[in-house]
Amino acid sequence: MDTIEVIRAKRDGGELTTAQIDWVVDAYTSGGVADEQMSALAMAILLNGMDRREIAAWTRAMIRSGERMDWTALDRPTADKHSTGGVGDKITLPLAPLVAACGAYVPQLSGRGLGHTGGTLDKLESIPGWRASLSNDEMLHVLREAGAVVCAAGSGLAPADKKLYALRDVTGTVESIPLIASSIMSKKIAEGTGSLVLDVKVGSGAFMKTTETARELAETMVALGTDAGVRTVALLTAMDRPLGLAVGNALEVEEAVEVLAGGGPADVVELTVRLAREMLAAAGVTGKDPAKALADGSAMDAWRRMIAAQGGDPDAPLPRAAETATVEAPASGVLTRLDAYAVGLAAWRLGAGRARKEDPVSAGAGVTLHAKPGDPVREGQPLLTLHADETARFERALEALDGGYAVGPADVERPPLVIERVTAT
Ligand code: URA
Repeated sequence: MDTIEVIRAKRDGGELTTAQIDWVVDAYTSGGVADEQMSALAMAILLNGMDRREIAAWTRAMIRSGERMDWTALDRPTADKHSTGGVGDKITLPLAPLVAACGAYVPQLSGRGLGHTGGTLDKLESIPGWRASLSNDEMLHVLREAGAVVCAAGSGLAPADKKLYALRDVTGTVESIPLIASSIMSKKIAEGTGSLVLDVKVGSGAFMKTTETARELAETMVALGTDAGVRTVALLTAMDRPLGLAVGNALEVEEAVEVLAGGGPADVVELTVRLAREMLAAAGVTGKDPAKALADGSAMDAWRRMIAAQGGDPDAPLPRAAETATVEAPASGVLTRLDAYAVGLAAWRLGAGRARKEDPVSAGAGVTLHAKPGDPVREGQPLLTLHADETARFERALEALDGGYAVGPADVERPPLVIERVTAT
């Protein structure tokens, strides 16, 4: 095979054969195709797309580049959830132990935040002692102990995606539906889950800004999962405003624990319970009500076991940022807008996120919300509290929030949290 021929074929709008895809993914992983050649091919894919067959072949080739985990020896079905990423999206934290408490195993490989979106592993790492890196045997041990495990993917899982994602990140080729879908699904299929619920975020704080593009991504991923024998459904959910009232690492853990204790913000509870129902249905577990498992403490028990089994102390105080600043409501009325991207960017600049993969994050930094769109506010009341380790971070965070919220005289229409459900056709 000739790399330049493969690049030219896609550059000129043609379809790649399955043999070409197998070869180029394999050769790139082993170093036979150079980064600059793969960059050119990724850009050609971004500009000219791939059809269903090509995307499926690309996904299979990335799965084959590494190991495929297998949980079939476990005595209960497995279920997982993947979110395409948002602001304040801490749902995995209450959801994984909740689904475990209802009778399915949840083996979840998760990621770190990049840019304005937070990462589940960064959030959990704010719990003193908690470890993200586990061997496969340790994963199995935690699963048996707690019913759920959330950890980092090892280097053996879809190494082709690991290499390609890092390249896309620095070549402006992340925003391609075929490349996003194959990247996410290669990891989820290789992870070995029997069923999967995708939470595809839509809005300013998400990768997908419109319902149409989110639907296309969801349909593509559902088809990839279904074809690979993983029972897969997707929900399109709102990310025009932050989820819940906390954005940041330890701040979000605190809010997740409130949900597990039977409280927490209504939107976080609603989405957690809805996704749990979808996961249990996809896994074929019947007769359990997730709302009841939140109320009766069984989800909290599973959370405590899961955290402890990964070295964390569920009772340890969480880190807090040293400094706070308040943003006040500019007028009395109704909060008509609180933009997810503006709040995510502010939290990032406060230290909750990282600019480069190797940067550390601050456990205590972030933003807490005192009102959500649709709530009445009084002039001068606190609207947001900013948390940072150094006061020097406040100026740029406040700039990010400039124009990101509005108070008006009339109530606003609150769009539904769950916009659409996508199943295999
Ligand atoms: N998350 C992934 O894992 N891959 C992408 O391409 C985008 C988001």
